[in-house]
Amino acid sequence: MFKMKQGLILLNAYGSVSAMEYVANRLKNEFENLGVNIDILVNNFFAAKIQEDGSISLNLPRDYDFCVYLNKDKYISQMLESQGLKLFNSHNSIQICDDKVLTFITLSKHNIPMPTTLPGLLCFSPLSKIEEKTYLHIERSLGYPLIVKSSYGSFGSGVYKIDNREQLVEIMEKLKTRPHLFQRFVESSSGKDIRVTVIGGKVVSAILRKSETDFRSNLELGGTASKITPDRKLICLCEKVAKLLKLDYCGIDVLFGQNGNYLICEVNSNAIFKGSEIASGVNIAGLYAKHIFTKVYKEKIKN
Ligand SMILES: Nc1ncnc2c1ncn2[C@@H]1O[C@H](COP(=O)(O)OP(=O)(O)O)[C@@H](O)[C@H]1O
Ligand SMILES: [Mg+2]
Repeated sequence: MFKMKQGLILLNAYGSVSAMEYVANRLKNEFENLGVNIDILVNNFFAAKIQEDGSISLNLPRDYDFCVYLNKDKYISQMLESQGLKLFNSHNSIQICDDKVLTFITLSKHNIPMPTTLPGLLCFSPLSKIEEKTYLHIERSLGYPLIVKSSYGSFGSGVYKIDNREQLVEIMEKLKTRPHLFQRFVESSSGKDIRVTVIGGKVVSAILRKSETDFRSNLELGGTASKITPDRKLICLCEKVAKLLKLDYCGIDVLFGQNGNYLICEVNSNAIFKGSEIASGVNIAGLYAKHIFTKVYKEKIKN
């Protein structure tokens, strides 16, 4: 019997930013061009549950061939995958990318250049005092200015440039009970970086992001984007990163180091591609939909 090709796009329960809805709608449209019907659902209904007998059951309206997981809820993604639903990206890849420290640790030992990074020390109580020795170690390792980031931030909102001890004390008090990191400030990249999109192991677009007003070049903070042609070195680096993290799709932020070197800043498994599509003119949604189609249905795409 003929079975309709059917995919699911799952969004976060608490409302997604409108740019994530753009991603979902663009993908739905491109899948429909390939003959795949797509449901876009917001996971405010508990897509999976653990039952009293210890088994996991799914609570989905249909039998889906795959799910594009535009969410980072790690429990639901693991449960969906455990029941055989194919996720894009995979649960494991999303988890690693969601945590900036875990991304760096996973990429270490593979000759991937990245800024010197100190993982924030875990603090269990807001009343605990940060020791002088800890401040001194951060200052001696990184110097001022230095970067402090929340491990799970997005859109530049959890990234801070710290100029002196007073600011360091303030930010550490604010972040100490949450996962965070300390990083060398890459001066040569201040106010600019490159966003590279990789699909199915291949670089498909690169844009230069620039800000006149902020060291962070995120478009959400007012940065502007322009298309660039990536050189061989950048392509090799980004394709290697995507492969190491087993990503079907990602947007990699790359900093400009000294002497034409590149440094990996972060890897976005759920990268919002609106800015990249507009600035580069590349149909990222179309390429990603085709990649998933080929992987799921093992069919060649007509035309
Ligand atoms: N170590 C650094 N040195 C200089 N600029 C940085 C550094 N880390 C981040 N930035 C700037 O801040 C922006 C946001 O940082 P990023 O780690 O990508 O966090 P987010 O997930 O919020 O986008 C980057 O795109 C880059 O412009
Ligand atoms: Mg970023």
